[in-house]
Amino acid sequence: MSQQIDHLLNEDRRFAPRPEFAENAVAGPGIYDAAKADRLGFWAEQSRELLHWHKPFTNVLDWTSPPFAKWFDDGQLNVAYNCLDRHVEAGNGDRVAIHFEGEPGDSRSITYAELTDEVKRVANVLQSFGVGQGDRVAIYLPMIPEAIASLLAVARLGAAHSVVFGGFSADSLRARIDDAGAKVVITADGGYRKGKPSALKPAVDQALSDRGEGEQATVEKVLVVKRTEQDVEWTEGRDVWWNDVVPDASADHEAEAFDAENPLFILYTSGTTGKPKGILHTSGGYLTQAAFTHRNVFDLHPESDVYWCTADIGWITGHSYVAYGPLANGATQVLYEGTPDFPNPGRWWDVIEKYGVTIFYTAPTAVRSFMKQGREIPQQRDLSSLRLLGSVGEPINPEAWMWFRDVIGGSVSPVVDTWWQTETGAIMISALPGVTETKPGSAQVAMPGISIDVVDEKGEAVGNDAGGLLVVTEPWPSMLRGIWGDPDRFVETYWKMFQDKGYYFAGDGARLDEDGDIWLLGRVDDVMNVSGHRLSTAEIESSLVAHEATAEAAVVGANDETTGQAVVAFVILKESFLKEHSAEGLANTLRTWVGEQIGPIARPRDVYIVGELPKTRSGKIMRRLLRDVAEGREVGDTQTLADTAVMSVISAQVR
Ligand code: WT7
Repeated sequence: MSQQIDHLLNEDRRFAPRPEFAENAVAGPGIYDAAKADRLGFWAEQSRELLHWHKPFTNVLDWTSPPFAKWFDDGQLNVAYNCLDRHVEAGNGDRVAIHFEGEPGDSRSITYAELTDEVKRVANVLQSFGVGQGDRVAIYLPMIPEAIASLLAVARLGAAHSVVFGGFSADSLRARIDDAGAKVVITADGGYRKGKPSALKPAVDQALSDRGEGEQATVEKVLVVKRTEQDVEWTEGRDVWWNDVVPDASADHEAEAFDAENPLFILYTSGTTGKPKGILHTSGGYLTQAAFTHRNVFDLHPESDVYWCTADIGWITGHSYVAYGPLANGATQVLYEGTPDFPNPGRWWDVIEKYGVTIFYTAPTAVRSFMKQGREIPQQRDLSSLRLLGSVGEPINPEAWMWFRDVIGGSVSPVVDTWWQTETGAIMISALPGVTETKPGSAQVAMPGISIDVVDEKGEAVGNDAGGLLVVTEPWPSMLRGIWGDPDRFVETYWKMFQDKGYYFAGDGARLDEDGDIWLLGRVDDVMNVSGHRLSTAEIESSLVAHEATAEAAVVGANDETTGQAVVAFVILKESFLKEHSAEGLANTLRTWVGEQIGPIARPRDVYIVGELPKTRSGKIMRRLLRDVAEGREVGDTQTLADTAVMSVISAQVR
């Protein structure tokens, strides 16, 4: 950490907005003063301007029983109507909503009028399955237009969706279906990745079977999109082909108004314990901040821009900046199904050139892997349409930031580094591209209307030129409303730490520089960030221990040049297994095992078979020391270990 801080202090490159950019920018400097003068009035005004309220609200914020907030709670709206119908009614029905690019090279462009019709059809089908307000629908789909249509159809009915990333295994899917009590699953036969059809439906079948006595799946219907034409197993009465029912369904569907605090979705994210947390977001406040940040951070001019966010719909970025933000703002966007390097390493740049993408939002891990491949690849394409670049998911190191700006952005596109979380729902910290003088590697300043600080363990502000813990000091419109089914865990996880101050603790370390700009320093808890995806050490440890060969396991996140952090596991095997198998063979078995149990992103980069783990006298594993080993450093202070010799044994074994 100290090395990183030194490096940050040396970063003195500055990029002021170009005058021609600033002149046409959506957000001007006055926006900060407006928000500061009357924070709640500012949000009310944004909400009225950006959204259509069927029933206008009069209350802005109800914070009478913190940390349970209500925003705009006497107002009513329909989220899907805001993302679709109203654009058609305003005469923009012919505007393209989605330029879809399939990995095999198939493509189609869908207008707002067409997407509106499609969503109405899907809503009618879901309604015929009995879905309505108060229900949950699980969505397990590849990055195809039907994924976006599914989210919106569920929202249109006032039900809540729970999207499960297509890379998660049957077990993970099942845990999420059960926790949310989903009534319907929307999936596909598969999708295309790396040139091959990947299977999704078999995982759904597996997730819904294998139940023990008395255990019943809550799922009544499975709606299956045909994408790859793979053979699938079929459960009569439960499974329905999308392609059989959606095209024939009526495209008449009245959007009913729902309360601002009606649940919109649950999205599961990793925490410091093994069980994923179902983060709950609601409607009016969430959509307000998603639309506001999308418009102002990305300087969206909906009539002329072509926007592309590369995130999968299975993550929060896909929810807020592929589905809700862009559609609420009437944007034209690109949706790409596959991997960045298929069929050639320049596929993303081909997509940008083909559609004339102007705004491009991606993750540092992707930027770093392109850096490795060399600038020749993007330089063979015409990327001159780009005028703004965004980064999200983990700290972007100044080198990657500069490469992004120079090589992809032609040395003119501003780069905005956006900090936020599944829990915050929308961007909280970012430069505004027409206002802020940017600094490579810094996320910079709180959004207008958002109150952020860096504090010490007692909650006292550390002030400029100092490091500490990142907190949000005032409630914000798109804040999580809770953890599904577990209000105590919600309070405990996010609000306990600074209870008397009423601050939200984000779990990140941060530093304020001498100007008060924010530099994120990574997680301070036992959570890793691999390629911009949050994984918990506890979750992977419990998967490892669930294997019959494992006696004990400890997992840490180690710095990785490409993925930010990588999963590194230290495992003690049962002696009986070591007698019969090689340590190397077992390490590989365990890597595969975790990949199957949780999903490929959780698969450890390294599994070290060791004889002991470093523990304190109270039995707590000291991950800090294991991280030293995993990152090839001198092992730090071992004084508090129950057995101080353990670390030299481990270091020797790993070497
Ligand atoms: C964690 C949230 C927000 C969508 C993607 C991840 C890290 C996120 C940044 C950034 C430094 C960042 C934080 C945060 N993070 N954006 N711009 N700079 N760190 O969402 O899975 O909920 O993870 O990602 O550690 O707490 P998530």
